[in-house]
Order: sequence, then C-alpha cells, then structure tokens
Amino acid sequence: MNRSKHLLCLRDWDTNCVLETIGIAIRLKNEVRNGTYSERLKGKTIGMFFEKNSLRTIVTFQVGIFQLGGMPVFLNPDSIGKREDVKDVARCLSRWVDGLVVRCFEQSLVEQLAEYGNIPVINALTDDSHPCQALAFGQTCVEHFGDDLKGKTVAFIGDGNNVANSVMNLCAKLGMNFTLACPKGYELKKEVINVCSPIFEKMGTKYRTFNDPKEAVKDADILYSDVWVSMGQEDQKKSKREHFLPFQINDELLALAPKHCKVTHCLPAHRGEEITDSVMENMQINLSYEEAENRLHAQKAVLCKLLH
Ligand code: CP
Ligand code: NVA
Repeated sequence: MNRSKHLLCLRDWDTNCVLETIGIAIRLKNEVRNGTYSERLKGKTIGMFFEKNSLRTIVTFQVGIFQLGGMPVFLNPDSIGKREDVKDVARCLSRWVDGLVVRCFEQSLVEQLAEYGNIPVINALTDDSHPCQALAFGQTCVEHFGDDLKGKTVAFIGDGNNVANSVMNLCAKLGMNFTLACPKGYELKKEVINVCSPIFEKMGTKYRTFNDPKEAVKDADILYSDVWVSMGQEDQKKSKREHFLPFQINDELLALAPKHCKVTHCLPAHRGEEITDSVMENMQINLSYEEAENRLHAQKAVLCKLLH
C-alpha cells in the first residue's frame, strides 16, 4: 500500500506534503471569503463512516465536499465491521465512491480499508490519532505566527492521547518544539515518541514531557488542550478526573506563560475540567474557534490533494 495516497496518520506525510496542504487550505479559505468556489470534486462521491460521535468533523466534511462540488454519502454506523469482512466492504465501496472519510475506534480499521480498497481513506479520528485536527492546527499557527514556525513551542496540557499524537507529529514536521504536560502514566506511547524523535533531532527542535504543567508553560507560544476522557474511555472518568485535576488550563496557569502565549482546544471543551470558562471566553488568546473554522479548509485541502 502506498500510504501517502491516504491520510491514515500524519506520520505518513512528510514536511513538504504537510506544508503544501496547509498552503492549499489557506487558498481555499480565501476563495470562500471572496465568494468563489472551485469545483475540484465535481462528479465525485465521498463515503462518510462515523462509528463515534461528532459535530465539527461531520459538518466540516459535508460542507467542504459540497463547496468543492462533490457529494457526501453517509454509511450506516453498523455497515462496516459488523455484517461482513472489512475486505469485502473495502472492495465494494471502492467500486462505488471516490474516497472514504472514517471515524472509528481502532486505527486498524482505517488501515484495512486502505489496504483492501483502492480509493483514498481519510482518518477522521481514531483512538490513536486525529490528523485532520493537527492539519487545521498547523493552518491556524501559520495564520497567527507566519510561515516560519521553526522554533515555536507548543505545550499540550493533558492526556497523551490521539490529538496529542497528531499534534506532536505536526510539530516535528514543521520544526516546532513540542512539550507534553501530563500526570505520570498518561504519556504518549513509546513507539509514537520513537517515530518523532529523529525528526525533532534533524530539525534541531525538542520533544519534552513534564509531570508539572507549570514547568511546561514557561516558554510556550501556544497551549493545546483536549478533554481528559476521550470517546470510548468513559469507564475511566472518575480516575482520570482525579489524576488530571492539576492539569487544567486556567488564568493562574496562563499567568506563568509568556505574555504573547495563545491557547487552543480541539473541542468539544469541558469547561471547568481541562479548561476554564474564563480562558475559553478570552478571545484575545483563544484560537479554538479559528482552528474549528480551519477544519473545513484543511480537510478540503486534503480531499483536493488525494482525490483531484
Ligand atoms: N474536534 C473534533 O473532531 O470535533 P468533533 O468530535 O465534534 O468532530
Ligand atoms: N481526544 C478526544 C478528541 C475529540 C475530538 C476524543 O478522542 O474523544
């Protein structure tokens, strides 16, 4: 399988590919703002399979496909992995639709759909990664800090989860430093770190983990937040809340960061848990809604790149 023909995880895309996608996303955003739509997906259909809940991803893919002149086709959540072998589903879908957008639990499902089908598969979040979110974050960083992101520092305050994984991969590829502040035992998986470490080294940047959020924010240009309890982890709610309580992004923590430091959250946010209402409502520093807006354009860029 040629992994660069899909977006299964950001690990598969090199720096040029990531930068090119962000560039396309910025151009597509301007097109919409100028009231012009390009019909780059005219006549194409995109299968949409969602095993987990979503607001942003479903709406932005659907609107994005419409803006590009294509048509989304929604699959029943029971239609993959329950009634028949994934190989058969992948081969049939490849004969009907031009691409697949998949949100599911197991990363192996997106991998199998790509392996056995012959159409581009786009990971719209799995337990392991959320590459579309990271690309939208990359676009937001370029818009705020300029084209040269080299040496900027992202401090992810929270769980070493799917979003942290993809944001770390993005930082590695764009020459940004990445810091994770999490309670002991919630770090990113060793294999994820092992993949990114040589890239950080080559770029002359750093990956660091702290168990104290105060240490992590000191030299940050932007703080990243995500829920403590991801979809599918509901049984860990009580213990995670106890462990993560000191890892809340609030005004006290922000006061320890450089004055210019921004904050973003992939959303949905649980105000009063990982981030406070006061920080979310501080529009001088909160870039979450811009990042959410950029989901639309970053994903359109991915579709253009893979399907055009
Ligand atoms: N950030 C994100 O993927 O949001 P949804 O879960 O609402 O799609
Ligand atoms: N880590 C979160 C991200 C939601 C967009 C989850 O997987 O539920």
